[in-house]
Amino acid sequence: MKIIRARDYRDMSRKAANLISAQVILFPRSVLGLATGSTPIGIYDQLAEWYDKGDIDFSETVTVNLDEYHGLPPDDPQSYRAFMRAHLFGKVNIRPDNTHLPRGDAEPRAECARYDALIARLGGIDLQLLGLGRNGHIGFNEPGEAFEKSTHCVELTADTIRANARFFGDEGAVPRRAITMGMKSIMQAKKILLAVSGDKKDILERSLSGPITPEVPASILQLHPDLTVITDIP
Ligand code: GLP
Repeated sequence: MKIIRARDYRDMSRKAANLISAQVILFPRSVLGLATGSTPIGIYDQLAEWYDKGDIDFSETVTVNLDEYHGLPPDDPQSYRAFMRAHLFGKVNIRPDNTHLPRGDAEPRAECARYDALIARLGGIDLQLLGLGRNGHIGFNEPGEAFEKSTHCVELTADTIRANARFFGDEGAVPRRAITMGMKSIMQAKKILLAVSGDKKDILERSLSGPITPEVPASILQLHPDLTVITDIP
C-alpha cells in the first residue's frame, strides 16, 4: 500500500488526476472504474481542464461506475449517471456508449447479473477510483456480516442516507436502495486509487490499519496488491 499525503483538497485532486491521466496516456483503452460522491469532483474537474488543454484523450477509454440508486432512471437529475455526465462525461471526449453504470430503473436481479457479465467481458477494471463512506463503505458496499462478492442491490444504512441527503435537499428524498458493484470486481481491479478527504480520519485509520472485517468494508483493501491512498488528512 502506498499512502500519498496531499496538502489540501486541491492538491489531492491534482495528484489523483495525474495518476488517472498517466493510466490513460499509457493505456488509452483502459477500463476505468469510477466513483461518485463529493470527493472525486475535484479530480474530474482537473481531468476536464487537462482535456481542454489537449493533454489527455478519452476517445478509447471505457468506464464502469461503482453504483447507482435503485429506482432512478438514467435521465433523473439525481441519478449517478446524471452526476457523471455533469462532472466528467459531458466535459471530455469519452464515447457515451463506452460509459457504463448499473441502471437504477431495471429489474435489480437481472441488472446485477448483466453488470457483472459486462465487467467480465471488458476484461476487468484497470484502475478503480474509490471514495470512502463515513461508515467505511466503498461503492455502496455497506457494513455487514460478509463481504458481498458480486453486484447486488443493497438497503442503504441510515448513516449513508443522512450523508447523501445534502444532494437531495432532504433525507426523505434519498432513495432507500442502490445497486452496487461487489467486492470481487473492486478487488480484482489491477490498481486501486482510494481518495479520502476531510473529516474521515478515524474511519480511514480503521480501514487501513484496523482488522479486516465486513463491518468496515474498505478494510479489505489492505489485501489489494496495488493500492494507492491519496488523502488530505494529515
Ligand atoms: C456515496 C458513494 C460512494 C462514495 C461515498 C462517499 O455513498 N456511493 O461511492 O465513496 O458516497 O462520499 P463523499 O465523497 O461525498 O464523502
